[in-house]
Amino acid sequence: MHAQVVATRPFDDQKAGTAGLRKRVSVFQQPHYLENFLQAVFDCMPEMAGATIVVGGDGRYFNRQAINTLLRLAAANGVGRALVGRGGLLSTPASSNLMRLNEAAGGFVLTASHNPGGPEGDFGIKFNVAGGGQASEQLTNAVYAKSRAIREYRILPPAPLNIDRIGTFTLGGMTVEVVDPVEDYAQLMEQLFDFDAIRQLAASSFTMRYDALHGVTGPYAEAVLVRRLGFPKESLMHADPLPDFGGRHPDPNPHDARDLMALFTGRGAPDFGAASDGDGDRNMIVAPGLMVSPGDSLAVLAANATRVPGYRDGLAGVARSMPTSRAVDRVAAALDIPCFETPTGWRFFFNLLEAGRITLCGEESFGTSSSHVREKDGLWAVLFWLNLIAAGSQSAGELLREHWRRYGRNFFQRHDYYLERRARGDDIIASLGERLPALTGQRFNGLDVIHADDFAYTDPVDGSESAHQGMRVEFGGGERIAYRLSGTGTTGATLRVYLERYDAGGSDGDAGPALDGLAAISREIAQLKKIAGLDSPTMIT
Ligand code: G1P
Ligand code: ZN
Repeated sequence: MHAQVVATRPFDDQKAGTAGLRKRVSVFQQPHYLENFLQAVFDCMPEMAGATIVVGGDGRYFNRQAINTLLRLAAANGVGRALVGRGGLLSTPASSNLMRLNEAAGGFVLTASHNPGGPEGDFGIKFNVAGGGQASEQLTNAVYAKSRAIREYRILPPAPLNIDRIGTFTLGGMTVEVVDPVEDYAQLMEQLFDFDAIRQLAASSFTMRYDALHGVTGPYAEAVLVRRLGFPKESLMHADPLPDFGGRHPDPNPHDARDLMALFTGRGAPDFGAASDGDGDRNMIVAPGLMVSPGDSLAVLAANATRVPGYRDGLAGVARSMPTSRAVDRVAAALDIPCFETPTGWRFFFNLLEAGRITLCGEESFGTSSSHVREKDGLWAVLFWLNLIAAGSQSAGELLREHWRRYGRNFFQRHDYYLERRARGDDIIASLGERLPALTGQRFNGLDVIHADDFAYTDPVDGSESAHQGMRVEFGGGERIAYRLSGTGTTGATLRVYLERYDAGGSDGDAGPALDGLAAISREIAQLKKIAGLDSPTMIT
C-alpha cells in the first residue's frame, strides 16, 4: 500500500484547549478536518517516525472511524509500531501506562472526556508525548500554528482494519498490535494497593457501588473490582461502554450520576460509592449522606498515603491546580513536604512528576492521581479510598470527618455561568482584569480583600511561563474567589467561579450555606449582572 499525498486547506478552529481538541462530532466529520489536525501533530512530533505510538479511545461515537483514519495516517507518516486497545478502547490512565511500559514516542486518546457522545454529541483528541503526559502548551501552540498553514497530508488509502481481535498485522510499513486494554493497567493497580486487604473487605458485610456511566471504565472495573477483588457483579452500574453513554453525560457529578446518588439518600445505602467519567480519568467518591469534595479527597489521600503499599515510603511533594481548594496545602505543611500550585490542566503536573518533585496531585474538577502514570486516574482514586477503608477501621465518612477535625475544613464550590455568546465571557474577564489592581484593600460585605492577582505560573522544572491562568481574590479571613474561562467547552463560553472558605473548627454540614455570602460577593466583584445579566449560576459542583 502506498501513501497518498492529499491536498487540503486549513480550518481556523483547531486550537486544542485544556485537554486536547474538542468539538462537535459534526465538526470532526467535515472532509479533511481530522486528517489536517493529525497531520499537524505528526509534523510537530517528528520523534514518532520509526517509533511506537499508543492509540485508543473512550468508545464514543466516531471512535472507530477516527482510529481507522489515524492508523492510516500514522503509517503514511512513518510510525514504526502502533499499539491499539482492542475494540478501540483505552482509558486515559491506561493509555498513559501503556506509553510508559512501551517507551512510546506519542499517544492518542480519542475522547471528549465527560462531554456527551453520539452523533449530536462531542468528539475529541488528546495527544500525549513520551512519558505518557499531555502535550505542553508550547507544543499545542505549535500544532495550532501548523494547522493554520497546512496544505497537504499523507495517508494510506481507505481500508477496513480489524481492531477487535488481539494480534498483530502490518499496515504499509507499520506494525499494528491490538492489545488487551485492561491487563497491564490491572497489574499496575495490583502493585500499588493492598489487594489482599481489599479482598477481605469485599468478603465482609461492606457494600459498594461503582458507576461507569457507560464510559470506558466498565471493563476495567469488572477486571479489577469484580474478578480480582471479589466484589459482586451487582456492585457495578452502567458498566457496558456505549457510543452515546446511554444518552447522558458521562460525568461523575451528583447530577449526571444521579442513579448512583439515589442509592445513597434513603435507608439501606451502600457503604461506599464511586463513579468515573467517559475516558476514566475523573472520579467521584460518595459515602452515605455525603459526597467527598475533590480537594478534600486529595488532602485525605495525601495525609494517609503511607498506609498504602505503593506510597509507604512517603510523598516527595504534592501539587494542586490553582482553583482547587487549599486543603492539601495544610497536609503538606504538616508533613513538611513541598506543595505546588499549577494552572488548570493536567499537563502542568507533568514536569513535576517527571522530575520526581511530587507524588500526588489533583484538581477540583474530580481529578486525582499520582506518579504511577502521567494522567489523572479515576479507578486509582477509588482503589486508594478502598485501601484506606480496608487498612483501618474507619468508613469513608469517618476518614473525612477526622480529617476536618485535625486540619480544619476548606468549604469549596465551583459555580459555572454559561454564556451563549463567547465574547461576553471575554468581556467579563477583561473588565475584571482592569479592576483587579484596585481591589486590594476594598471591603465587600464585611470581607477585606488582602490580595488580588492574575495568576501566572513559572514551571519550576523548565522555567517556561504561562500567563493569564485565572484571577485570584483573597480575603483576610481565609476566603478566596478564583475566576477563569473554561478551555474545554465546544459552544459559547463558561465562566468558572471557584469559592473557598476555611473553617478551623472543621464543622460538618453542606458547603452551600457556608458559601452563600461569598457567592454573592463573587458576582458583585465580577459585575456579572451589569456586564452579562447574570444573577445565578447555571451549575454548581
Ligand atoms: C476542565 C477542568 C480542568 C481539567 C479539564 C480536563 O477544564 O476544569 O480541571 O483539567 O477540564 O479534564 P476547563 O473546562 O475548566 O478548562
Ligand atoms: Zn476525562
